[in-house]
Amino acid sequence: MAVDTFVGAKLLADKTTIITGAARGIGAAIARCFAAAGSLVIAVDLNEPAELAFSIEAEGGNVVPVALDVTDHELVKSTIERLAAEYAPCDILVNNAGIIAREIIENLSYEKWCSIMDVNLNGAFNMCKAVVPFMQERRSGTILNITSIAGKMGDITASPAYGTSKGAVNTLTRSLARQLAKYSITVNAVAPHAVETDMSAEWSQEKRKAVIESIPLKRLAHPDEIAEAALFLVSPNARFITGEVLNVNGGALMD
Ligand SMILES: NC(=O)c1ccc[n+]([C@@H]2O[C@H](COP(=O)([O-])OP(=O)(O)OC[C@H]3O[C@@H](n4cnc5c(N)ncnc54)[C@H](O)[C@@H]3O)[C@@H](O)[C@H]2O)c1
Repeated sequence: MAVDTFVGAKLLADKTTIITGAARGIGAAIARCFAAAGSLVIAVDLNEPAELAFSIEAEGGNVVPVALDVTDHELVKSTIERLAAEYAPCDILVNNAGIIAREIIENLSYEKWCSIMDVNLNGAFNMCKAVVPFMQERRSGTILNITSIAGKMGDITASPAYGTSKGAVNTLTRSLARQLAKYSITVNAVAPHAVETDMSAEWSQEKRKAVIESIPLKRLAHPDEIAEAALFLVSPNARFITGEVLNVNGGALMD
């Protein structure tokens, strides 16, 4: 079987990708990377990611910016149906939208716990629930969840709600991978450690130093490095990979 050349190839030509949390950080890097690989990118965020859309278009990519709160189950369903009718059914879904909390258990309110679960876990479920019928109908598609090292190891620098939500998405990944394989739909995840984004920018210098010290490659990831791993997992070159939670963490966890 021919394997598509990776570097410089339009690996995602004729594909439609929906990326949540696309306005900035890792989501924006994935949106740029997938647009460069030839996909129509539907870039979803709480507010329409107009700036991102402008920069992708300037680079010759195809992008549709969409305002959508992934926690709104009914709105997610109707928006996905509208986008499928207006553009094309979703071939690739990237569940990237996520929020973090820092409170340890003693300071963690029930409301905060629920808000983390609502975005990180329920948001991913809502998106999967909405796109899966389109993928089942065409017996093809791929879903990629952006989780975290905390979902495997437990939280080191974040609230226990964060790692728990990400661990649950890892299990959602494997459960859907098992259940949707018969439709030739693959489901995988990328589990980063610390990435140079707004989420890690809030750390003190001391904490940043300690995190870097714990990473064998001795630095944080660049968002493009997460995007490149994501591109591989949704590309035809990964067609026989499903249920994988891929570490992209500089060696911080080897499992
Ligand atoms: N940055 C890191 O170090 C790191 C490490 C491991 C995993 N991650 C994960 O990667 C993903 C992206 O992280 P990031 O650092 O780029 O985050 P970020 O905070 O820079 O961006 C997250 C984006 O998600 C959007 N978003 C939040 N709630 C939403 C909702 N309800 N509906 C739609 N969009 C919503 C935000 O508006 C924002 O644009 C997250 O799932 C995060 O948990 C990040």
